[in-house]
Amino acid sequence: MFPLYSSWRTGLLLLLAVAVRESWQTEEKTCDLVGEKDKESEKELALLKRLTPLFNKSFESTVGQGQDMYIYMFRVCREAGNHTSGAGLVQINKSNGKETVVGRLNRTQIFNGSNWIMLIYKGGDEYDSHCGKEQRRAVVMISCNRHTLADNFNPVFEERGKVQDCFYLFEIDSSLACSPEISHLSVGSILLVTFASLIAVYIIGGFLYQRLVVGAKGMEQFPHLAFWQDLGNLVADGCDFVCRSKPRNVPAAYRGVGDDQLGEESEERDDHLLPILLEREWRQKWDIQGSATFRPGCGGCSTCPFFWLRDVSSCP
Ligand SMILES: *[C@@H]1O[C@H](CO)[C@@H](O)[C@H](O)[C@H]1NC(C)=O
Ligand SMILES: *[C@@H]1O[C@H](CO)[C@@H](O)[C@H](O)[C@H]1NC(C)=O
Ligand SMILES: *[C@@H]1O[C@H](CO)[C@@H](O)[C@H](O)[C@H]1NC(C)=O
Ligand SMILES: *[C@@H]1O[C@H](CO)[C@@H](O)[C@H](O)[C@H]1NC(C)=O
Ligand SMILES: *[C@@H]1O[C@H](CO)[C@@H](O)[C@H](O)[C@H]1NC(C)=O
Repeated sequence: MFPLYSSWRTGLLLLLAVAVRESWQTEEKTCDLVGEKDKESEKELALLKRLTPLFNKSFESTVGQGQDMYIYMFRVCREAGNHTSGAGLVQINKSNGKETVVGRLNRTQIFNGSNWIMLIYKGGDEYDSHCGKEQRRAVVMISCNRHTLADNFNPVFEERGKVQDCFYLFEIDSSLACSPEISHLSVGSILLVTFASLIAVYIIGGFLYQRLVVGAKGMEQFPHLAFWQDLGNLVADGCDFVCRSKPRNVPAAYRGVGDDQLGEESEERDDHLLPILLEREWRQKWDIQGSATFRPGCGGCSTCPFFWLRDVSSCP
C-alpha cells in the first residue's frame, strides 16, 4: 500500500513541477514600465490598457534598397522578431538576415496628448560606433486616425549623428490614440430635434388617420382641426390684445371673442344680413376705420393674424 501511495505522490509532484515550468515558459513577455509592480505610473498603466487591442497585432515595414534594405518589425507589448530577446521593435538587415534589437519591452515608456500616444522602447542593442556606443532606442508616435484600429506603420528617420540620445523614429495610425468623440449636439438641440420629429409624426400620422380611417377631406384632414382653430383664435386674440398700440374704444367687446356671443346670434341671422352685421361688429370691435377691407370669411382678411386658422364666426 505504501509504495503505491509514494509513487502516486511522486507522480503528482512531477506533474505539478511540469505544469509550473510550462506556465512559466509560456508566460508572454509584455511591456514593463519603470518601477516595481505597484509603483508603476497609473497614467502609463491606463495607456497600456488602452492599447490592449493592438497586442496581438504585428507590424512590418521595409525601407531602403539593395545592400541597405531593412525590415522593421514592431509589436505593442509583445515580442517582435524571431529571437526571444525581449525586443519590441527589431531591424532586420535584408542582405545578411542579421537582427538588431532597436528597443526592448522591459524598458517601456508611454505618454499621450489629446490625439496621439508616444510609445518608447529603450534598451536596444548597442551602437557599434555611433552615439557613444549607447543602447538603441525606438520612439513610436501613434497618431489618431478614426478609420483604422492600427495601420500605416512607417519608419520616419534614424537620428544617430549625436554623441548620445540617438533614436529611431516611427509612426503609426490608430483609432485608439483618439480622444473620445465629443457629441456636437447639445442637450437643447437634441430636445429641439426630438420635438420637431414628434410634431412631424403627429401631423403626418394625424393627416393619414383623418384621410384614410375617418375619411376626411380638405381642411378636415388636419388632425384635431377644431382644437387648433380654437387655439389659433385664442393666440390671435391674445396677440391683438397685446400688440395693438391704439387703445380700444370698446374694450367690453373683447370679452366676446366672437365665439359665444356671435355663435348664438349667427344662427338667427339672415344670410344676406350676415356680412353687413359682421362688418359692423368687426369695425366696432377693433376700431378699424377702413384701413382693411372686410370680406366674410377669414380668407378674405389677410391682415388678421392667423386668419388662415380662424373659422368664419370668429373673424373680426
Ligand atoms: C486579436 O484579439 C482579438 C480579441 O482581443 C481577436 O478578436 C482577434 O481575432 C485577434 N487577432 C489575431 C490575429 O489573433
Ligand atoms: C547589412 O548587411 C550588409 C551585407 O552584409 C552590410 O554590408 C551592411 O553593412 C549591413 N548593415 C548593417 C547596418 O549592419
Ligand atoms: C523569421 O521567421 C519567419 C517565419 O516565421 C521567416 O520568414 C523569416 O525569414 C525569419 N527571419 C529571420 C531574420 O530569421
Ligand atoms: C531587459 O531585458 C534584457 C534582455 O532580456 C536584459 O539584459 C536587461 O537587463 C533587462 N533590463 C531590465 C531593466 O530589466
Ligand atoms: C491621455 O489619455 C487619458 C486617457 O487614457 C486622457 O484622460 C487624457 O486626457 C489624455 N491626455 C491628454 C493630454 O489629452
